[in-house]
Parts: sequence; C-alpha cells; structure tokens
Amino acid sequence: MSEELLRQQAIAGTIGVTGARRHIFLCCDQTTPKCCDRERSLAAWDFLKRRLKELGLSDGGGILRTKANCLRICEGGPIAVVYPEGTWYRACDPPVLVASSEEIVNKLGWKPTYPGLEEIIATAWEWHKKHPLGYE
Ligand code: FES
Repeated sequence: MSEELLRQQAIAGTIGVTGARRHIFLCCDQTTPKCCDRERSLAAWDFLKRRLKELGLSDGGGILRTKANCLRICEGGPIAVVYPEGTWYRACDPPVLVASSEEIVNKLGWKPTYPGLEEIIATAWEWHKKHPLGYE
C-alpha cells in the first residue's frame, strides 16, 4: 500500500468516514450567494459544527458535514441536504438546526411568537375566518 493511501486512510479514520451514518451538505460560503447572504450561511455552518461537536456526533460520532458552494435550489436558504435519506431542508439557521425547542429558548434566547398550541390554533382560526378564500 502506498504512503499516500495510508495517509488518506488515516485522515478518513480521524474524521469518521468509515463509521458515518449521515452526511450533511450545507450551502455555505458561496462564491455567488443566492439562497441567503454569505454571513448568514457562515453563522449556520459555525453553529452546525459546534452543535455536532457538543452532541459528540462529529469526528467519528457518525455525522459528516461538508460545505457546499451551491446546492442549486438558490432560494430560501441556507439550504441543506442529508444523506443517505436525501432529505432537503430550507432556512437552516441555528434555530432550525437545534433539535430541541427548549434548547432554542435557553441557548439562543429565541422566543416563539405564539407560546402554545392553543394560541397557534386560535390565531390561525381567526386568520381563516377573515380570509375564507386564503391568499387572494
Ligand atoms: S446559493 Fe445556496 S443553493 Fe444555490
């Protein structure tokens, strides 16, 4: 086996290629930002990296991450796709990247517009009563 191949295998082992269960591609640091501005995509990337590390999911923890220059959706970003499922995500800002709503509130200070399900349903019902034909 060549020296180069051995070095590549060692690097692959360090970043967890062989044990990866998922691979997240995030449109980030784009040459021509279209789906969101570059700073927003970099904030999402920094948060994703930190969050995966906090959860022990990076560097051999089972989740690989890659910056994608453009995923060709080019609207509503940051855009992400997760393999092997091939599930696509839009607006991947830190609140979307956090799995727990409690952590969103505690770590990011995010406050929901409507704090509970009853308020969400009540305001949606009021809107539908005023707009029986929806957006026209
Ligand atoms: S610029 Fe983000 S998907 Fe194209």
